[in-house]
Formats: sequence, C-alpha cells, structure tokens
Amino acid sequence: MVIIKTREEIEKMQQAGKILSDCHKEIAKIIKPGISTLEIDQFVEAFLKKRNAIPEQKGYQGYPYAICASVNDEICHGFPRKELLKDGDIVTVDMVVNLDGWLADSAWSYAVGNISDEAKELLDVTKKALYIGIEKAVVGNRIGDISHAIQTYVESEGFSVVRDFVGHGIGKDMHEDPQVPHFGRPGRGLRLMEGMVLTIEPMVNIGTYGCKIDDNQWTARTLDGKLSAQYEHTLAITKDGPIIITEQ
Ligand code: MF3
Ligand code: CO
Repeated sequence: MVIIKTREEIEKMQQAGKILSDCHKEIAKIIKPGISTLEIDQFVEAFLKKRNAIPEQKGYQGYPYAICASVNDEICHGFPRKELLKDGDIVTVDMVVNLDGWLADSAWSYAVGNISDEAKELLDVTKKALYIGIEKAVVGNRIGDISHAIQTYVESEGFSVVRDFVGHGIGKDMHEDPQVPHFGRPGRGLRLMEGMVLTIEPMVNIGTYGCKIDDNQWTARTLDGKLSAQYEHTLAITKDGPIIITEQ
C-alpha cells in the first residue's frame, strides 16, 4: 500500500533531508586517503546527535552501523571498518536520517584522492543516471518510466545497472511501497501521484550487474570484482514536479 504524504509531512521529511544533505557536505570535506570508514561512521553519529536526529539504519533488521560504506567492488551495505581508505578508492556512503519520526535517505559516492579516469566516468554516469530518473518523477508518469530512463542511459554509456536492489517509498518507515527498480519498461508499473515520496538510488557497475553477498549476510559486491557506484536521493512527487528532499 502506498502511503500518500501531506504537504506538512513532506516539510518534516525536508527537515530530516536538510540534516542529511549537510552531513554529506561535511563528509565530502573529510574524505581523503588515510581516513577509515569507521571514523566516518563515528563522525556521522556525532553529527546527527548534535542535530537531534537519529541514524535510522543502526539496528534496522540488525544492521550494526549508522552508515553503509561500500568501497570499490562493494555495491551496497558495506560495513564501516578500521582499514584506511587509499588514494584511488571510491566509497559510497549511504544513510537514513530520522528527525522526529520522519525519514530521509541518501547515498553519495566519493572519490578518495586521485581516482582513475574510468572510476571518474563511473561516478559521473551514476550521478547523471539519478538525475535522469528524477526528471521522470512527475505526476502521470509511471514507475517504469523512471526505471527505463535510467537503464537506457547507463547501458548507452557501456555500464550496467544492478537488479537486486531497488528504490522504495519512504516516510515514517524506511521501506514503503512502491518498489522503484532502476531497469525496466516504459509505461509500466504504478502511476505517480502527488504526495508520493520515493527514493531513486541507481547502483551502477563497470562490468556485469551480478552480485554476491558476503559472509556478514549484508554486503553486496560485484561478481567480477569491478567497481560499483551509487547515488541516491529521496524525493516528493508534487504537481509542480519533484522536490528533492535530500538536496538542500
Ligand atoms: N539506505 C538503504 C536504502 O536505500 C538501506 C540500507 S539497509 C540498512 O534502502 F539496513 F542498512 F539500513
Ligand atoms: Co534507499
């Protein structure tokens, strides 16, 4: 069941989104060779506490950390760890912020120091894929229009889009209906209505889209060991077009 949000509820989610986007801006400043993803996790917990917000991922279905930090061939749900990031790594930091019971969800991929041209291209294409999807998030379109636009663009650039993880509705719960795949056919799926709040969060791989799950039962990584990136925003569908809740 899709839960439609009122104008006031969307405003509350925007307040959570503002904290989240401020937090990503701070992460962008501190990410460099020699920092660990565990330090970033601790930074985020402290940052959210100062803003009276809660890291919703911590404890969610037993997930142990405030952020997911997915390095290089890790697609998503990477565990923060003590190991130091190195020049040339890419890392996706994903988090869900809870402010007074209302959530916002956003992931961003970061370059650590100087990265290869191929890695740069992967980050550029993945970010652009997110915004191409957001452009399709208008009243009257269908979910499949978002999915298809993302897939077509990513594949035209020679990369692949992950099938096993999808975007989702969000509100007081992290995962609500509908699912938002990043691949699919235009004109299919649920019709977008004013008041829907969704995430779009393409994970894009340089090689095959296949993935495997680590022994920790969470972390997904590419089957072929090649790089993967992800950008995610939470957005509200309105009659005046999408409001990006996690970009402020
Ligand atoms: N932020 C992720 C998403 O986009 C959720 C990660 S799963 C968790 O859905 F357990 F870490 F929360
Ligand atoms: Co999400």
